Amino acid sequence: MLLVLILLASILGVRASAKSSSSSSHAGLSSSHTKLTSTHTKSASVHPSSTSGYGPPTSAQSGITCTVTPAANGADSAAVIRKAFKSCGRAKAGQRNRIVFENTTYTIGSVLETTNLQNVDIELYGTLSWDNSNLDYWLKNSLVVGYQNQSTAWRLGGDSITFNGYGTGTFDGNGDAWYRFINGRSNYPGRPHQLTITDTTNSTFQGLNFLQSQMWTMTVIHSSDVLLQDIYFDSLTSRGCVAEFSDLKNTDGCDTIYANNITFRRWVVDNGDDGISPKANSTNILIEDSEFYRGSGIALGSIGQMHDQFETIENVTCRNITAHNTKNGAYIKTWTGVTKGYPPNGGGGGFGYAQNLVFENFKLINVQKAFTITQCTNFEGNKAGDCDTSKFNIRDVYLRNFTGTVRGGIVTTMQCSAAAPCRDIHMSNIVLENSSNHTTPGQYQCASVNDTVGFLCTGPPDGEDNAFKRR
Ligand SMILES: *[C@@H]1O[C@H](CO)[C@@H](O)[C@H](O)[C@H]1NC(C)=O
Ligand SMILES: *[C@@H]1O[C@H](CO)[C@@H](O)[C@H](O)[C@H]1NC(C)=O
Ligand SMILES: *[C@@H]1O[C@H](CO)[C@@H](O)[C@H](O)[C@H]1NC(C)=O
Ligand SMILES: *[C@@H]1O[C@H](CO)[C@@H](O)[C@H](O)[C@H]1NC(C)=O
Ligand SMILES: *[C@@H]1O[C@H](CO)[C@@H](O)[C@H](O)[C@H]1NC(C)=O
Ligand SMILES: *[C@@H]1O[C@H](CO)[C@@H](O)[C@H](O)[C@H]1NC(C)=O
Ligand SMILES: *[C@@H]1O[C@H](CO)[C@@H](O)[C@H](O)[C@H]1NC(C)=O
Ligand SMILES: *[C@@H]1O[C@H](CO)[C@@H](O)[C@H](O)[C@H]1NC(C)=O
Ligand SMILES: *[C@@H]1O[C@H](CO)[C@@H](O)[C@H](O)[C@H]1NC(C)=O
Ligand SMILES: *[C@@H]1O[C@H](CO)[C@@H](O)[C@H](O)[C@H]1NC(C)=O
Ligand SMILES: *[C@@H]1O[C@H](CO)[C@@H](O)[C@H](O)[C@H]1NC(C)=O
Repeated sequence: MLLVLILLASILGVRASAKSSSSSSHAGLSSSHTKLTSTHTKSASVHPSSTSGYGPPTSAQSGITCTVTPAANGADSAAVIRKAFKSCGRAKAGQRNRIVFENTTYTIGSVLETTNLQNVDIELYGTLSWDNSNLDYWLKNSLVVGYQNQSTAWRLGGDSITFNGYGTGTFDGNGDAWYRFINGRSNYPGRPHQLTITDTTNSTFQGLNFLQSQMWTMTVIHSSDVLLQDIYFDSLTSRGCVAEFSDLKNTDGCDTIYANNITFRRWVVDNGDDGISPKANSTNILIEDSEFYRGSGIALGSIGQMHDQFETIENVTCRNITAHNTKNGAYIKTWTGVTKGYPPNGGGGGFGYAQNLVFENFKLINVQKAFTITQCTNFEGNKAGDCDTSKFNIRDVYLRNFTGTVRGGIVTTMQCSAAAPCRDIHMSNIVLENSSNHTTPGQYQCASVNDTVGFLCTGPPDGEDNAFKRR
């Protein structure tokens, strides 16, 4: 049976073998092989095999391997990638399949939908490079994320997935074309996120680089028990990027939405917007041993955007974080209680709470403020009093052991909402200095903050801090 398959495969020009001793894996190969023959082309191919030459030795329970060969001359490899996921994306019970991207460049010129995966190890040794020569294609065809009317270039998900770039595997969004096109406009409809991890459980993403994402780099949605570690993001300095830092909009590192038990470890993010951003219904989130450069810092929210909807952010721990020249070490932002327009650029009027939030062992290097809360978010301008309308409550917040430098004299600005005052804000061991003249910043600005522990508010915010302005 196996010999017949190999012979058949060699006739068809597809390298194929199955190492497993169980007959069920032969059946798996045979059925995936049937799919391959119907779509096999000369210029791009998937090789089901157990001997790709890359990666860890396959275990005794190994299933089949698809090695993805890119389309010739840098043509769109999306079709052959789809084929690999179709053939190898779901392993039989008790087995693990592999999908191997070799150490070369794969151009991606169309959307990928690779969901419902199971027990698969994806290995990326080279670069996935998005082709943005036809922005109109992406504007019209990007896939639905399922939040805020956002869209994406790749929806990937399933159970028990590992996605490993071994430190060199790279997603290159070639986002410069998008940064020029949007020219500062916020949440441009149809502009795609780079990777959306959706409906995913018990999975690990590691050793990956993300360059110049088209928009948000990664979104984790409707997912739980996901570990993302040793991840490097750079939207700015990788290659002669024409966008100015201040023009970078919506290049968030990773946003979590409807997500539980998500761990971020050893991330380095250099971007122009939020670093890691737990949003609606994010629970049990751990962010540790990570560094953020130049963006806004770790951002909880914005939340409370959906009129009359109840959402939470609960049990978020951020520890051993270094922030370099960011706006904040960390911040929390909610929409106002006044609904104006619809998402993504409008909304407000939601309620709920963020609680049990721990920020500890932060090293700040020339950041604007250590910590900020604003409940003033909207894109259309606030009337006097709008910042006091949000019914979204922020409570049980712990800041411990912040050291380093800030740019001015303000440690924190907390512009909370009178309709649901922030409460139980704890601070200890906040030892900062002014990055210019080494004085100790002394301002703790508060509005509608009840029950502070370990610090005293020194006065009100010096202006309503609206997190966004429409352009
Ligand atoms: C990938 O190829 C580059 C040169 O093209 C080489 O420097 C690098 O070591 C290779 N990586 C792996 C994992 O083989
Ligand atoms: C998406 O946008 C439409 C208008 O185009 C709006 O009616 C709708 O409420 C929005 N949906 C979500 C989930 O934000
Ligand atoms: C979770 O995924 C790992 C592979 O990363 C696998 O070894 C393990 O069996 C999975 N656990 C469950 C409970 O499915
Ligand atoms: C949280 O997710 C990790 C995988 O990142 C898993 O090992 C752990 O068991 C999960 N915790 C709970 C309480 O399910
Ligand atoms: C909070 O989340 C952490 C993971 O970051 C988890 O270990 C812990 O058990 C959670 N605490 C509660 C009370 O659920
Ligand atoms: C803190 O994070 C850095 C990476 O930013 C890491 O090198 C270091 O080992 C971590 N420290 C501790 C105590 O875990
Ligand atoms: C968000 O969580 C709340 C509380 O668990 C729940 O009532 C609500 O339905 C969730 N929203 C979505 C869209 O999952
Ligand atoms: C305070 O945080 C720094 C990292 O910014 C860490 O090196 C130090 O050990 C922490 N101190 C305590 C007492 O935990
Ligand atoms: C910190 O230094 C800068 C630059 O010299 C100055 O503008 C600012 O007022 C200083 N703040 C404090 C509180 O000393
Ligand atoms: C630091 O800056 C503040 C505000 O500009 C000024 O009042 C103070 O004298 C400066 N301190 C030193 C040591 O230069
Ligand atoms: C906040 O403090 C004010 C004044 O002490 C009090 O009237 C109000 O009930 C408190 N609100 C909350 C939510 O704790």
